Amino acid sequence: MRTLHDLGDLRATLTQHRRAGKRIALVPTMGNLHAGHVALVETARRHADVVVASLFVNPMQFGPSEDLDAYPRTLEADQVKLTEADCDLLFAPSAAALYPNGLEGQTRVQVPLVSEGLCGGARPGHFDGVATVVTLLFNLVQPDIALFGEKDYQQLAVIRKLTADLHLPIEILGVATQRAEDGLALSSRNGYLSEAERATAPALYQTLMSARAALERGEPAPNVLDRAIEALGAAGFAPDYVELKSAELGPVTPQTREAILLAAAKLGPARLIDNVRVTLGQ
Ligand code: PAF
Repeated sequence: MRTLHDLGDLRATLTQHRRAGKRIALVPTMGNLHAGHVALVETARRHADVVVASLFVNPMQFGPSEDLDAYPRTLEADQVKLTEADCDLLFAPSAAALYPNGLEGQTRVQVPLVSEGLCGGARPGHFDGVATVVTLLFNLVQPDIALFGEKDYQQLAVIRKLTADLHLPIEILGVATQRAEDGLALSSRNGYLSEAERATAPALYQTLMSARAALERGEPAPNVLDRAIEALGAAGFAPDYVELKSAELGPVTPQTREAILLAAAKLGPARLIDNVRVTLGQ
């Protein structure tokens, strides 16, 4: 696997592949790779001739009091994992290369409606940062297909909408959340947890699964969501939200069948998110 830091080198390399008629896949990441990222690369491998991963800890998507400086940077270990997963190319640009005018001078991409509420409500500007960097990466790599984890469900919805709204000829593929044996969704931020917090963390998924069972039995959503918030608090989390939405992240109506139950909660230094699908009106 080759690692490229320079935008010109990336473009030149990919132009050759495109001229040779190769189908290109992109897996955008912020590094500190785990089995969830490996699943994205392995899925990409089945859908394309050339698999490109990007590694960029995007300062634009972190709020002023968030963990930009603490975010783990593990380039060498990431290169080993990507090589083992049969990735062809790693693009790891610097912030100066990607944002030559600095963050203040950078043109931004804003995706209305779907960026609002949930994590967009708790992290103002976060999805503008995600949408901007993903648009830059799409423009630089010009992939045929790009893959994202379903754990970041709202992020996936934002990226689907920006791709549709900007008429980008890119297929967006969501890949199922990878979980530890105890159910905890894999995330780079799990590394912030102490041993005791790590033992508590699966309660987020367990709470969502209990709430899903109650919703599918027909219990009223407001009661179920209140109970889930209480359960998270009792387990030691500081919940941000537990919400039920339509699969497209719109409001749930009596006609909604395919819904999504989403939660975000702080546990010690880590902000964890998760979601499960819910079938209503069974
Ligand atoms: O999900 C992530 O790791 C990031 O938000 C992404 C999509 C790579 C953009 O920085």
